[in-house]
Amino acid sequence: MADRICFELNDQPVELSDVSPMVTLLDWLRETRGLRGTKEGCAEGDCGACTVVVERADGRHEAMNACIALLGQIDGQSLRTVEGLHGQDGGLHPVQRAMAESDATQCGFCTPGFVMTAYAFASGGEAADLEVIHDALAGNLCRCTGYRPIVAAMQRVAGLGAEPAVALPQRDRSAVYDDRFFAPRTLDDLLKLRLDHPDALLLAGGTDLGLLASRARKPPRSVIHVAHVPELSAIVEGKDEITIGAAVSYAHAMPVLIAAFPALRSYLARLGSRQIRTMGTIGGNLGTASPIGDMPPVLLALETRLKLASRRGTRELPLDDFFLDYRKTALAPDEVIQSLTMPRLWPGEHFFCDKVSKRRDQDISTVAGAYRVRIRNDRIENARLAFGGMAATPKRASRAEATLLKDGFAAAIAALPRDFQPIDDWRGTSAYRLQVAMNLLRRLEVRLADPQRPVEVEAL
Ligand SMILES: Cc1cc2nc3c(=O)[nH]c(=O)nc-3n(C[C@H](O)[C@H](O)[C@H](O)COP(=O)(O)OP(=O)(O)OC[C@H]3O[C@@H](n4cnc5c(N)ncnc54)[C@H](O)[C@@H]3O)c2cc1C
Ligand code: FES
Ligand code: FES
Repeated sequence: MADRICFELNDQPVELSDVSPMVTLLDWLRETRGLRGTKEGCAEGDCGACTVVVERADGRHEAMNACIALLGQIDGQSLRTVEGLHGQDGGLHPVQRAMAESDATQCGFCTPGFVMTAYAFASGGEAADLEVIHDALAGNLCRCTGYRPIVAAMQRVAGLGAEPAVALPQRDRSAVYDDRFFAPRTLDDLLKLRLDHPDALLLAGGTDLGLLASRARKPPRSVIHVAHVPELSAIVEGKDEITIGAAVSYAHAMPVLIAAFPALRSYLARLGSRQIRTMGTIGGNLGTASPIGDMPPVLLALETRLKLASRRGTRELPLDDFFLDYRKTALAPDEVIQSLTMPRLWPGEHFFCDKVSKRRDQDISTVAGAYRVRIRNDRIENARLAFGGMAATPKRASRAEATLLKDGFAAAIAALPRDFQPIDDWRGTSAYRLQVAMNLLRRLEVRLADPQRPVEVEAL
């Protein structure tokens, strides 16, 4: 018997057997369920009009974009849409009241998305801090109200808190929906599926793949959803190393990564939006292998090793050897990325990173740089300098690294053009990219002169 997609929607159980798992959650909500409060603006994860909230049993309430989520991904989740929001007396929820009383809406098209974002923010109990509010709002666009009253509404509901969701029973065996959406529950099942279905795409958070169903309207023929496999969903915090499962979401990984590498705080806050970070994973960022993905330079600089798994066994591969050419990686057709491991910083080691993009929020990098530098007795002993947006793959600046150890920063900066000949495109010319990378190395020199200086305020 075919498996049903089971989840909870606005406190009611839902079981689906007669619907394609490749339909987007947004289309299903609007067209099948008739819940039209959730809007379609951009259909590509950018505008937040389709924001719904996943409520977790551990108390986390996370905003996500319904437009790029496939229905099969929703199995086992508790979801809330704007129709399911209400106050304790059955009337308006406090966030709806705050939006109305702050005059935070005009045409109203974006408003349900803002309300759901505000609901996730308020439920998390975060402070009414402006920086936090701007971070929470970065995934929602309003073209007519202006953000000041929306921010005021957010300030009013900050710290509200919420009850954790009731834990839903989770499947104890792998599932398959409609013979094309495979949802393994064990690593063994995942690897067997990978071998038996070489044409099925691996799906983690879907923030890249989901665009096939939403923007392109050509959903993949079949997918293997890796999110429920325990080995890919775990975080292990060792004394010397941190291991992150490839299917761990950014939202889940961020506290651990930021505690170990504080410079990542402002960097990760600019990776997509909260909605994107609820769904997106680091494994997916590596799998996409974009030359302008944000995590590859960071992970290259941090000396990350990948664990790649297949039915043949597992192997460890330094990330240095993973990216072969434009969007081409060393992953064999029967392999998956299981996890990534990075050493913690030793005394005397420093880590910094920069993202330069046309827009501050919700934009892909023009150039990204990340640097791990070890200094002993006022001498640079080791340096790993990695960049995105400078070549067909994310790449270390090996000539600049060697020159830095020998001859210092000025010589290393002058050596950069021997490492990179970036392309011209609409994000930036080759000369611009090179100049930016050189400036970032100059900035690294300034930072290393006073590594304790806070890096949080730096916005490019
Ligand atoms: C609005 C928006 C904003 C974005 N902003 C940014 C940004 O600022 N910076 C940035 O870097 N990216 C950004 N992205 C891109 C995307 O969010 C990231 O690349 C994300 O990390 C992808 O992860 P995912 O889990 O969603 O991947 P998916 O879409 O599920 O998969 C992506 C690719 O990885 C492969 N894959 C997934 N898991 C594995 C695995 N375990 N082993 C091997 N291959 C695997 C898939 O087959 C697919 O080819 C943005 C996307 C959107 C829609
Ligand atoms: S419709 Fe714009 S983010 Fe989903
Ligand atoms: S109120 Fe019109 S788009 Fe926001």
